[in-house]
Amino acid sequence: NEGALWGARFASGPSPELQALSKSTHFDWQLAPYDIAGSRAHARALSAAGYLDAGELDTMLAGLDTLEARVANGDIVAAESDEDVHGALEAALIGIVGPELGGKLRAGRSRNDQIATLVRLYLKDHVAVIGRQLVHLIDALSAQADAHRTAIMPGRTHLQHAQPVLLAHHLLAHGWALSRDLERLVDWTKRADVSPYGGGALAGSTLGLDAASVARDLGLASPSENSIDGTASRDVVAEFAFVSAMIGIDLSRISEEIILWNTREFGFVTLHDGYSTGSSIMPQKKNPDIAELARGKSGRLIGNLTGLLATLKALPLAYNRDLQEDKEPVFDSVETLEVLLPAFTGMIATLTFHTERMAELAPAGFSLATDVAEWLVKRHVPFRDAHEITGALVRYAEEHALELDAVDDAALASIDPRLTPDVRSVLTIEGSIASRDGVSGTAPVRVADQFARLADRVRHL
Ligand code: ARG
Repeated sequence: NEGALWGARFASGPSPELQALSKSTHFDWQLAPYDIAGSRAHARALSAAGYLDAGELDTMLAGLDTLEARVANGDIVAAESDEDVHGALEAALIGIVGPELGGKLRAGRSRNDQIATLVRLYLKDHVAVIGRQLVHLIDALSAQADAHRTAIMPGRTHLQHAQPVLLAHHLLAHGWALSRDLERLVDWTKRADVSPYGGGALAGSTLGLDAASVARDLGLASPSENSIDGTASRDVVAEFAFVSAMIGIDLSRISEEIILWNTREFGFVTLHDGYSTGSSIMPQKKNPDIAELARGKSGRLIGNLTGLLATLKALPLAYNRDLQEDKEPVFDSVETLEVLLPAFTGMIATLTFHTERMAELAPAGFSLATDVAEWLVKRHVPFRDAHEITGALVRYAEEHALELDAVDDAALASIDPRLTPDVRSVLTIEGSIASRDGVSGTAPVRVADQFARLADRVRHL
């Protein structure tokens, strides 16, 4: 096998069954640009340590440029016999610069330190993309909130009507959650910004190569402190999978609401035609497929995380081939989010809210009962009694099929003398919302503050 990275100590070549199992080029080929960037940095380190003269370094770097261009235009692809991207690219480089020079590049590095570095480079690039996509989604939620500053909706707990809230307050709640996911991505980068290059197979290299300059060349903050940790750890990869899963979960919670709000029973939103789908048999259908796909794909993102954690559990140090199983799940998480987030943002940005319908339902279900209880507390009734009195009022209203503000003066007095007619002053939705003006409350003044705070937080991450 021409391009193989090993073989001399073997009496026979690999069996076809082993080759079929071992092969990773069908997924690790996308690391080719990072592999080549690593090779450039490594060639410079070899040259600085005296293993390549100036002419050899120039030829090697020119060869790597050619290799990169020919991989990019599809001229060089993995061969059936290639085990992985590293071996395939070494063979191709040898084809370009010859075996004498090409054979020198592998000195002082192993696929173990290479792959541990390349997966970080790949993830760093994609985290930047996903971060920007998240910012767009947070912006879309904020813009919808801003466009509906006075709209009122039924706030829910247990999915039951609880207390009225501003629609903007609710939408911004999702924005805050996503801002923490963005913060997680930024924070992840601190731990990802380390280069295992120079760790070799596990124990380091005898060649005196400058690992710090390789790290710098690759745009990573520093080399690993420990070659065993550098080549054997994948917690950074698992952490990325967690943040991806958390983003998926946060999207699934928005999705579930949009799916409900889009039903005839709720009638809170209409989806834009460009962001909804039809049925092959029912001509009238207009379905919230983006939200459903987001909800479904959150399961897939969780699966990628749990699969990877299961692979890592109890793995002894240092490198084990099991670690090759880290790539497909995280590549899938990256691809899933990068296709999902733009569609999701488009769906949010183009959503039409039926605010009159939301406002009409906001007082239903005695959602102002807490306001009555707190009105009594302000008149120095102990909350325990206030809760009881208001509960009795709700029961009376329910039995007589009345809203709370329609219970007459005599009935109020018969429930409890402390329920004087001026209790009706708190029985308006607008009054209820405006009075929840403590920090983090739904009062318009408080919600107005949140826009700048959220934008500020996102900008400073
Ligand atoms: N393809 C491997 C991985 O993804 C890297 C190669 C290491 N192979 C080895 N036999 N040490 O982890």
